[in-house]
Amino acid sequence: MIVSGNISKVRKVIKEAKRRNKLVGFVPTMGALHAGHMSLVKRAKKECSFVVVSIFLNPTQFGPGQDLRRYPKCFAKDTHLLRRAGIDLLFYPRQEAMYQRNHSVYVQEDSLSKGLCGKFRPGHFRGVCTVVGKLFNIVEPDIAYFGQKDYQQALILKRLVRDLNFSLKIKILPIIREKDKLALSSRNSYLSPGERTDALSLYSSLREAKSLIKKGERNPRKIINEMKRIILSKKGVKIEYIKIVDAQNLKELDKIRAPVLIALAVYIGKTRLIDNVIINVKG
Ligand code: PAF
Repeated sequence: MIVSGNISKVRKVIKEAKRRNKLVGFVPTMGALHAGHMSLVKRAKKECSFVVVSIFLNPTQFGPGQDLRRYPKCFAKDTHLLRRAGIDLLFYPRQEAMYQRNHSVYVQEDSLSKGLCGKFRPGHFRGVCTVVGKLFNIVEPDIAYFGQKDYQQALILKRLVRDLNFSLKIKILPIIREKDKLALSSRNSYLSPGERTDALSLYSSLREAKSLIKKGERNPRKIINEMKRIILSKKGVKIEYIKIVDAQNLKELDKIRAPVLIALAVYIGKTRLIDNVIINVKG
C-alpha cells in the first residue's frame, strides 16, 4: 500500500495505474474507520482493480462550535485496517495541501442541500461538495463509494457528478449496524454506556415507522409523532429533526408514496447522531 499526502505523487501513481488499464475505485473518508467504511472498501476491492482511500478531516464542512476539534483521530489504526484490506493507495493530505491560505472557490448545491441536515448545518454540504469535488479531480476515480447513513450527502454528490460532468459513477451502499442495530458512526465513540443505550431509540423509532407503514399508515405526521414518542422516552435526548421525504428529491411528503426516506438527527447528550431507512411503499 502506498501512503502519500503529496497531490502530484498521488496523481502520478493513479495515472500509471490507469495506463495499466486498472479500474480505479475510491472511498473518501475523514478517518476513524469502522466496519461501515470497511464495507465500502470491501466492495471497492471486489469491483475495482485499483483501490484508493483518502483520509482527510475536512475543516470546511464543520461549522463553528461543531466537533472538528474533538473528531476522533486514529491514523495508525486506520492504516493498519486499510493495509489488511489490501488497498493500493492511501491519500492522506495535509490541510495546507488541500486548501491554500487564500482558497476562495467553493462548490454549492442549491436544492437537495436545503432540508434535513442542511437546514441545521449551514455551509456543511458546501464544504462536502468542495472537498469531494477536489478529491475527484485529484483521484479521477471510475467509481466512488458512499454509505447510505449519510444519504443526503450521497444524493447531493450524485447531483454534483451529474451537474458538473464528472466522469465517474457513485454507488451508495447499505448502512452497517451493530448487532443491537445502532448505525455505525465514528461519533459513537463519544457516547457513554448509558447514552449508547439511549441511542438505540433511534433505530427503534425507524423500525416502528416501517411497521406502521407496512400496516397501511400513510399519514407522515402520525408516524413522526409515534417516532418522537419513542425517542423522547429517553432523558437527555433532543430531536433535531425527523422527516419523511421523497427518497429521490428529498421533498417533504403530505402522504406516504414510494420510495420514502425516513431520516432523523438526534442529540444524545452532546453527540449528534443521524440514521435513516428507505421504504418502498406499494400502492
Ligand atoms: O462522509 C464523510 O466522511 C465526509 O463527508 C467525506 C465524504 C469524506 C467528505 O469529507
